[in-house]
Amino acid sequence: STMKNELDKLVHNSKVADRRIFKLQMENFFALYRRYLLHTVKGYECDWDSIRPLGPQDVTDYTSLTPCKEESQYLDRVAVLKLNGGMGNSMGVNKPKALIELHGSQTFLDLSIQQVDYLNKRYEVAVPFLLMNSCDTNDETCKYLRKYTGYNLDISTFEQSRYPRVSVGSQLPVPKYAPSPIEEWYPPGHGDVFEALVHSGIIDRLLAQGKDYLFVSNIDNLGASVDLRLLSHVIENEIEYAMEVTDKTKADVKVGILVNQDGILRLLERNQVPEKHQEEFTSDRIFKYINTNNVWLYLPAVKRVVENRELNLDIMPNIEIINRNDESTRVIEFTTSIGSAISQFKKTEGIKVTRERFISVKTSADLLLVRGDLYSIDHGSLKPDESKVGFSPPVVNLTNEFTDVAELFRRIPHMPSIKDLTSLSISGNVYFGKNVVLKGNVVIVASPNATLHIPPNAVLENCVVSGNCKI
Ligand code: UTP
Repeated sequence: STMKNELDKLVHNSKVADRRIFKLQMENFFALYRRYLLHTVKGYECDWDSIRPLGPQDVTDYTSLTPCKEESQYLDRVAVLKLNGGMGNSMGVNKPKALIELHGSQTFLDLSIQQVDYLNKRYEVAVPFLLMNSCDTNDETCKYLRKYTGYNLDISTFEQSRYPRVSVGSQLPVPKYAPSPIEEWYPPGHGDVFEALVHSGIIDRLLAQGKDYLFVSNIDNLGASVDLRLLSHVIENEIEYAMEVTDKTKADVKVGILVNQDGILRLLERNQVPEKHQEEFTSDRIFKYINTNNVWLYLPAVKRVVENRELNLDIMPNIEIINRNDESTRVIEFTTSIGSAISQFKKTEGIKVTRERFISVKTSADLLLVRGDLYSIDHGSLKPDESKVGFSPPVVNLTNEFTDVAELFRRIPHMPSIKDLTSLSISGNVYFGKNVVLKGNVVIVASPNATLHIPPNAVLENCVVSGNCKI
């Protein structure tokens, strides 16, 4: 109840542009916090014995979907939404991740816009493009979007909720006023998309325009473009929530898996798995399908679950340290994910797609992959080389020297050729010259305190390069 008092004070003391929305957000935050307290008693672990791998009734294989001639008719009913709440901090970039340059001066945002623009031109339709920004990304994103003013594409943005960080010590909200510094607040994960769509009024606007389906994906996944076969499948089968899943690889040990729990589809995250079943969770033998975060939603159903308050999304608590007035405070954030909502819709399904629809960029190693010649860019979409059947990207490991994008570009200013690469590991103080070619399994290790230069035009194939050795 002290928490409730503090939140009430926060609402009363604050002059905010939209008091109704702010009040609603604080109420929703309180509901989340109460569920968190309940969880700390019950714990987060799932009842492992009730978890089963997906059966044939749970998942449809993309390749079994038949293309029909008039599928483009459905394009009038869909809008595209990119999740854009995240910053590039994990890659040492202090701006929205969507604004990182990927291909020349083209950012994730530019390429996402090109995808929808191309779709519209090709099929003579007007699919709207939406961005869900957060308190962290909104200003810079809106500023960047000015260059599209007058552009023939319906672009809208809305801001997701802003929740107060909670001090670990006092268990009370850190901010005392709504306009208090940004680091006292946090965006509560992409699970917030449902509330944000409804409360911003976006959902009603889309429905009034006859758009009753929404295709949602991460802004950093440039493999996630609108696919007509998927769209018609979802519409024709009246699916309320479809999650695109893909085969798990060795690189995906942390990614959530789609499972069947007592007949209901559910997303299972690693922190919900009991210690002794972790290996089953990560292995690709039993649980084969991981979440791509490409999700197809039926908007009337979204409205229903929000208005009926049926969305009790799984909570992921996260401890952070923030620095204010030369003081560091340990804070806790409670986030939710869009994937965990699948269990709360009626007609749900997993759709198995190839890796080409899940090319996500979480680290600078991922960025290296998408900038190389492994993919070509086709109207904003990344497409792997056609000749590659069963495409799976190389596994790349880079040491700390490469974590920041700026350092990555300083050390590897010219992209090596990586189309025939299987795995790459670079450790230490390594610099690349121009036109380097990497093939097969390559390991590059600079000795401690030494600098290793890979000379221009070097071809490294299935080899270990170490110290200062000559190539
Ligand atoms: P992240 O890159 O932060 O998440 O966000 P992740 O590491 O994949 O882990 P999951 O998916 O949360 O398990 C994925 C996408 O969601 C957006 C980011 O901008 C990114 O496109 N996002 C994240 C939001 O829109 N709001 C948030 O509060 C968090």
